[in-house]
Amino acid sequence: MDSESKEKLYVEATEEIKRRIAPLEKGNIIPRMATISAVLKDKMPYYFWCGFYFAEEEELIAGPYQGPSACPNISYSGVCGASAKKKESIVVPDVHKFPGHVVCDVRSQSEIVVPLLDDKNRIIAVFDVDSSELNAFDEVDRKYLEQIMPLLLEGEFS
Ligand code: SME
Repeated sequence: MDSESKEKLYVEATEEIKRRIAPLEKGNIIPRMATISAVLKDKMPYYFWCGFYFAEEEELIAGPYQGPSACPNISYSGVCGASAKKKESIVVPDVHKFPGHVVCDVRSQSEIVVPLLDDKNRIIAVFDVDSSELNAFDEVDRKYLEQIMPLLLEGEFS
């Protein structure tokens, strides 16, 4: 998908997410995560799967997600783990070329993972998006997803 079309969809998705989470009670992250996953999965045609993994001590545990059934817990060796450890977004054009990539569904070909950090820069969770197309994600996805993640914690630390 070209950058202009992506931007347009992300702008619309962000507006919808803001509108839907505005009435939600502060401090309850699960309905916000569910809303973000549902809106983005519905809006972005190249998303095959998207959702959250909570960063626990030993492994990552599935949170709200949309798409085919995925691994309920994954090790820190994959893309999600790398993003959680580095506290940085990671774009993977071809998952087969990422050492340690965790396969939850063989149809996934490319991936982006964006971390969710608290006000003290501690990792809370990651948002993972998979596509069944190679090279589906780029800087446009990174930019908008990094803008969407802080909406999960809005009002939490003020
Ligand atoms: N591919 C991810 C695992 C999660 S699933 O794709 C839903 C990883 O390597 O961390």
